[in-house]
This record gives sequence, C-alpha cells and structure tokens, in this order.
Amino acid sequence: MDKIQEIRKSALKDFEAAKNLSDLENVRIKYLGRKAGELTKLLRNLKNLPLEERRGIGPLAQKFREDLENLIAQKDKQLTADYRSPVAGRFDVTKPGKKIKLGHLHPLTLLEEEIKEIFSSMNFSIVEGPEIENERYNFDALNIPADHPARDMWDTFWLRQNQAKTKNLKPKTQGKLLLRTHTSPMQIRYMEAHNPPFQIVVPGVVYRYEATDATHDFQFRQLEGLMIGKDISLANFKYVIESFLKKLFGKDVEFELRPSYYPFVEPGVDVYMKWRGKWLEVAGAGMVHRKVFEAVRYNPDEWQGFAFGFGITRLAMIKYKIPDVRLFYSGDLRFINQF
Ligand code: DAH
Repeated sequence: MDKIQEIRKSALKDFEAAKNLSDLENVRIKYLGRKAGELTKLLRNLKNLPLEERRGIGPLAQKFREDLENLIAQKDKQLTADYRSPVAGRFDVTKPGKKIKLGHLHPLTLLEEEIKEIFSSMNFSIVEGPEIENERYNFDALNIPADHPARDMWDTFWLRQNQAKTKNLKPKTQGKLLLRTHTSPMQIRYMEAHNPPFQIVVPGVVYRYEATDATHDFQFRQLEGLMIGKDISLANFKYVIESFLKKLFGKDVEFELRPSYYPFVEPGVDVYMKWRGKWLEVAGAGMVHRKVFEAVRYNPDEWQGFAFGFGITRLAMIKYKIPDVRLFYSGDLRFINQF
C-alpha cells in the first residue's frame, strides 16, 4: 500500500514538472515503460503478493495507471498545440505561407508611363526640368513680359529669394524664383542646350496659387511637347496629336482644334476632345512664336515648329472617370486600390 502511494506521489510530481514533450515522454517511460516502468513493475509483481494485499493494491494500481495515461495524453496534446501556436512565439512550419501584399503605381504615374511610351514610339525624347524656376524661363523668354496681361493667367507661388542657391537658377540675371506654373519653361531650357531638329515631351508637376475645388488643385501634372525642324507645321501637330489621342483613348476619339491665345505661340490653338458627349479642353498648343526663338538665339526664319501643353491630371480624370481631382492626393486607399 505504501509503495503505490509513493509511486503515485513521485509520478504526479514528475508529471507537473514536465515542461515539454520530451520531459513528458521521460515521465511516461519512468512510470509506464513496458520493461522498467515503476508502475509496470509493481503491477507485474502483484502475483507474488499474498491474495489479501493483491486485492487491495491491484485495483488501485490499475486505476492509477489509467489516470496517469490519460493525464499524459492530455498534456501531450496541450504541449503540441502550444508548440504550433504563434502566441508561443513559434510558428507552424507546415502551414502555407502568408502572401505579402504588393502595392502598385499611382494612377497618375500609370497614365504618365503610358503617355511617355506613346510619345517614345513616335520618336520623341522624354526630358524633365526643375520645379523651381525663375521669371526668365517661366515668363520672359516665353514672351510673357512683366507687364503683360497674360501673366494674370498664372497665379504664382513665389519663393523667398535668398532660399534657393541652386547653380542653374540665377535670380539676379534671370529674375525672381518661383514654383513653375507650367512645363513650358523647359522649351527654353532645351532649346538653349540643343540644336534643332528635335522633338521632345516634358512631363512634370506644376504649381498654381489657387483655391482647390473638384477641378482645380494647387499642383497638377502637365506634359509639354516641342517639335522643331525646317518645315514642321500645324498639320504635323494635328497628326501627332491625333495619333496620341487614338492610342490613349481608342481610335474612335473625336477632337478638334479651336483658335486660342498663348503669348509663346502664333497662331495658338486649344485641343478639344469629345468625351461621353461633351467637348473638353485637353491641351493648349500652337506654332512657336518667333520671339521665343529669338530668346534662345535660334533663327526664326530658319526654324519653325509646334509646342503643346497637356494637362495629364485632366487626362487621368477623363480616362479613369474621376469626378474630383482632390482624390488623387487624398491618400485614400479605397480610391487608390481601384487601379
Ligand atoms: N503652358 C500652357 C498652360 O499652362 C499650356 C500651353 C499652351 C503649352 C500652348 C504650350 C502651348 O506649349 O503651345 O496653360
């Protein structure tokens, strides 16, 4: 009788102390092991005991063996579950992996990429220019002198003049610094640095000092175009723009050129596109003004060509049917994830 109590006490103590599966297995072997388990031995020796004792110990030992087996089985299950649970700082290596969510490009970037590809396919080079400009590039060289009423067309963010000390911005000789109000200054920069003939497009962000609403933002994207040669005409422009719009919006696209005014072109036109029954202005354009050629020391009697400026943000609104321009920069994932 004492013997069984003794085994029971030590077995339960060892069982409690078992912290992992291998401890638990050792407990099982120690007490229930087929050859040398203490409980097994005790049960095996029963037959050597007097009948009286056998009757007392037998059922007790038998019952305890079952209990211990159950306890061990339960704890085994528990420890196995803990081992798999992430809470325990482990993980189940047999589980399928979690897919990492990949992001994607912003709709404005996507569209810009598509537009660049279209113009590349027509042999246009893609160039970019600074967003901080000076008055000469943004206005004067584009035939927009200080007192010209056209300067009212662009309400400008002016910089504190001692701030930007970038080399290619020379405020003293080139006028005050500002955030460019259009991509047209790159016409000047490019012509100053290159000889014609050439054709380029210039995507980029521009800034206007104005209140935001559904169709206006203080920053938006434009695409400038410039093609200069000996005999480039508006007919060439019409062909280029038609090819571009067809590639972007499909070959049924309808568009027309309407007379307009920009100081840096003569004549000037606006490009209107028919979209879902409505005529929308999508670009300004024209033949480069001779004053602009003079500003970059090209001979206006030798060279001619067209320039245009698209609102990429506007094109994106049309193409993706977006009613409010502010959504583009809202950072709202419900919006972004639709693309
Ligand atoms: N820079 C003009 C604007 O921001 C758009 C523009 C019109 C660009 C006519 C051009 C052009 O190159 O020829 O409104």
